[in-house]
Amino acid sequence: MSVLRYLLDRSWNGDIFLIYGCHNPDDIIFREELDYLQRRHPNLQVVITVSQDGETVWPGPHGRITKELITETVSDLPSRYIHICGPVPMMEATKQLLAELGVSQERIKTEAFGPALGKEERLPKAAQARTPEGSSSERAGLPTVTFIDSNKAGSLPPDKVVLDVAEELGVDIDYSCRSGICGVCRVKLLSGEVSMAVEDGLQPGDKENHIILACQASATSDISVKA
Ligand code: FES
Repeated sequence: MSVLRYLLDRSWNGDIFLIYGCHNPDDIIFREELDYLQRRHPNLQVVITVSQDGETVWPGPHGRITKELITETVSDLPSRYIHICGPVPMMEATKQLLAELGVSQERIKTEAFGPALGKEERLPKAAQARTPEGSSSERAGLPTVTFIDSNKAGSLPPDKVVLDVAEELGVDIDYSCRSGICGVCRVKLLSGEVSMAVEDGLQPGDKENHIILACQASATSDISVKA
């Protein structure tokens, strides 16, 4: 967004394309400003794709950012400069798509959307090395997280969060940043208490409604969540 504002504030007259993927229409940030900028600057084209509809049906594209969406939106792609911002797995996937579309790496800049400097980036469990500490015998006595809708439960060690355990058990919880910022992993806490290192992704009223961020929630006693 800051790049966009910078270019438009300086009346840069080249083509600018913003392809923005988010969870549902209610999660679109800067939506009014993007509408306004697009009306005001004919050289700006904004395409927003959503994973699923929210309270209203999204009239635009659905699903992740794909090769088709990129090539339909951006003409003469290999000659463009590209700035990618988002969670690390999303940026890596997009870089791969762009390479397959003939964009050279020198034309791609990335901006990490993740934890503050010094905090470990949480990657999906599949991308992390397995360690022997996860054996069930060593987990005895740890708090348990129960996923009520999925009828599954697992230990919640102090170094893990609810989203980690959900992934281990095959419980489907959407996520994006894994850093407590985007709010995509919001789930309802049905019993127990959790602590969260980062809560930026919560919306007003969430706490009162017992909504937590699965990517941040850890617990010292048994909890259950709706997932
Ligand atoms: S995945 Fe973004 S806040 Fe949890």
